[in-house]
Amino acid sequence: MSRPKIRFAVVGGGQISQQAFMPGIARAENATLAALVTGDPIKADKLTRQYDIPAYHYDDLPKLIASDDIDAFYLATPNALHPRHAIPILEGGKHLLLEKAMAGSVKDAEAIIAAQKKGGGKLMVAYRLHCEPGTLELIDRTRKGEFGDILFFNASFGQNFAEANHRGHSGFWSGPVPDLGTYSLNALRNLFGREPIAVSAHGMKTPGRAFNFDDTIAVTLRFEGHGLASFTVSYACAPTEEFRLVGTKASVRASPCFMFGPDTAITYTVTTEDGTKTHTHKPTEQFGGEIAYFADCILNNQDPEPDGEEGLMDMRVLEAIERALQTGQEQPLPSATRSKHLTPSQARSFAPVREPTPDKMISIVPQSP
Ligand SMILES: NC(=O)c1ccc[n+]([C@@H]2O[C@H](COP(=O)([O-])OP(=O)(O)OC[C@H]3O[C@@H](n4cnc5c(N)ncnc54)[C@H](OP(=O)(O)O)[C@@H]3O)[C@@H](O)[C@H]2O)c1
Repeated sequence: MSRPKIRFAVVGGGQISQQAFMPGIARAENATLAALVTGDPIKADKLTRQYDIPAYHYDDLPKLIASDDIDAFYLATPNALHPRHAIPILEGGKHLLLEKAMAGSVKDAEAIIAAQKKGGGKLMVAYRLHCEPGTLELIDRTRKGEFGDILFFNASFGQNFAEANHRGHSGFWSGPVPDLGTYSLNALRNLFGREPIAVSAHGMKTPGRAFNFDDTIAVTLRFEGHGLASFTVSYACAPTEEFRLVGTKASVRASPCFMFGPDTAITYTVTTEDGTKTHTHKPTEQFGGEIAYFADCILNNQDPEPDGEEGLMDMRVLEAIERALQTGQEQPLPSATRSKHLTPSQARSFAPVREPTPDKMISIVPQSP
């Protein structure tokens, strides 16, 4: 007997949908691509022929939400636009895999969570690394105390983005802090296993670039008692992605640690007084993995770990970083406790699919110039 499959509709046929979600779903035996919602008639024509699925316009979304042909949606529009489609999908009782960052404000993120509670479907924020075996192993070892008491974390994540991409001209909420900083923030919150109590930030505009916001930003976070974390993100630099985590017994350097793709092998190196050991995990189909995990949650009626609360924990820090940049002052964060924790059982390991190159993707504005 064939396994039941969750039927996904993609909302927003941009770069990440075409590069990663639409090819990656093929690896998940419990899910299938069933529709595309797009405002672009060229994508509606070409992508639907490529994947043999029907296309709908955003105006037709209510019909699709009410339809028995779709079980779940994957929403990958610009961050600040997420609530426009996330709220009706969730209020309509459908399941939603929602791209990070969750929204463009804490208020909107809370409205998305309220819609999920009202409709009763499942909500997962698309933190693909929460299903990546190497990341889960490192977080598990950290939380078990193998590296001692964690004292500090620092990270850098950046690349050269195009001003023409939606990220390049839509202000803070499509900029480097929500787009790239969310990876460091989510990693450090899960590595410390605690929520930060205050945040400060400084930004700059790179000479010769035309972003309408600070394109390079350094953020520092404090934890109750002890624990410091910092990360720097940039839209105007050579590619960089790494973090360091330092405890009383060992220090860890992870790189690559945030990206995905057929050649990305998540790797970390542990150094103690006895020497250094490198742990490399083979490249994994990260989108197929998160889809398979979410589909399992739906089929088994279990709540996903990266739920609305996990998204909201990042959102409240992102919003405080925006205030810190506006005021130049450290921003206190109200005390908060996460009710769930990552477990190694979330890991899904599939061979990576081949991604289309930017020239093969249909009417996208490429991320890089
Ligand atoms: N998990 C990850 O690794 C990852 C990586 C990259 C991005 N993301 C997230 O995925 C989301 C989309 O990012 P992306 O890189 O795919 O962006 P993108 O290439 O700019 O695509 C966004 C798509 O949203 C749709 N859209 C609807 N209204 C729009 C509007 N007013 N302006 C611009 N686009 C609009 C468009 O699709 P149609 O033309 O089909 O209507 C557009 O192609 C963001 O939330 C981002 O943070 C996640």
